[in-house]
Amino acid sequence: MNRIDESINEELVRLKTDGLKRKLKNIKSAQGPHVCLEADNTEQLLFCSNDYLGLANHPAVKEALCHGVKECGVGAGASRLVSGSMAPHSILEECLKDFFSTEAALLFNSGYNANLGIITALAGRGTEIFSDRSNHASIIDGCILSRARVRRYSTLESLERKLKESTNEKRLIITEGLFSMDGNFAALNELIELARKYGAKLILDDAHAIGAVGEYGRGTTEKLGLNAPDIIRVGTFGKAFGTFGAFVTGPKKLIELLISKARPFIYTTALPPALAFATLKALELVISGKDLRERLETNRAHMSEGLKRADINTLHSESHIIPIIIGSAEKSSAVSVALEEQGLFIQAIRPPTVPKGSARLRTTVTAAHTKADIEDALKIIKKTLGIDTIDGGIN
Ligand SMILES: Cc1ncc(COP(=O)(O)O)c(C=O)c1O
Repeated sequence: MNRIDESINEELVRLKTDGLKRKLKNIKSAQGPHVCLEADNTEQLLFCSNDYLGLANHPAVKEALCHGVKECGVGAGASRLVSGSMAPHSILEECLKDFFSTEAALLFNSGYNANLGIITALAGRGTEIFSDRSNHASIIDGCILSRARVRRYSTLESLERKLKESTNEKRLIITEGLFSMDGNFAALNELIELARKYGAKLILDDAHAIGAVGEYGRGTTEKLGLNAPDIIRVGTFGKAFGTFGAFVTGPKKLIELLISKARPFIYTTALPPALAFATLKALELVISGKDLRERLETNRAHMSEGLKRADINTLHSESHIIPIIIGSAEKSSAVSVALEEQGLFIQAIRPPTVPKGSARLRTTVTAAHTKADIEDALKIIKKTLGIDTIDGGIN
């Protein structure tokens, strides 16, 4: 065995010993509140998907995708800068620009790529990035790739202290709008103020709020009634939109720069054009989807209150993302397996995705769950965690 093979084996053993080895779990059905596990053909209640509005298997979105394939084929052929930018991409960008009332929008192949693209295009060795300690891996990786000086903050006070100390003229503040692992919202008003006060640019990754939050689904800014024309927004279609791909919105000049400098935009085959058709349909459903967001909110309240009544630690969740804090990686994996044995699928989230000692079941509700689904899930969670169901008071 050569040294690389040895280190692969060693690393796999270490991951297993630490309870951090990841495994794929195959499902046979489409995404939805009920899925079928391939291993044993059991039906599971799914409470960890980001398909927040239940659009991933929506007939109109599927039909739009098929129509797109008939019109434009499957592949985009190359990067949009190489073999031609196709009309559906530009139409979707125009619609996003209008939806967010910004000057321009640019599509990326995923939220991961969008964060790498925007951060590395804007930041370099002479830049200081102020990044929330809870930010997603794609933001962390973008910061590392950019070679900028990165300061992580966990409170507004520590952010302001760091901004005051900063001697760099180029400053970027990066935050998620709705934190993906904790389910709480960023203090966006205050962040906008600090960005203005200290001459920093603010990047808002609103992956988990766009579509799901705000009167028309515009996300955190709409929820807070903010008019923030200078904000740079990152959004993804893989969550509430139920499709795939992502975007950045902002000033025209920024988008012009991204087209020339964002490597995850330049050096990759463009999103299949049919996906733009599907996403245009999803956007229509998001805009007219007030009833879906109301159902999501009702479901969130029901789940969250049920867990709180049982004294389960859900941190400071304020949204459809409701973490159930377990503690150790091993224990959270064991709880996840025990839930699955009773027909409830909630993935354990372990370090390094979340801090050590705070491994959790990242529970999400969607608009597609029924009240009965939530009550069943609550019963199974309480039983598994050894909480008395009657005292816990599900109603
Ligand atoms: C905050 C945040 N940003 C970006 C992404 C990446 O988005 P995508 O799944 O489209 O790559 C995620 C995905 O989980 C996320 O949680």
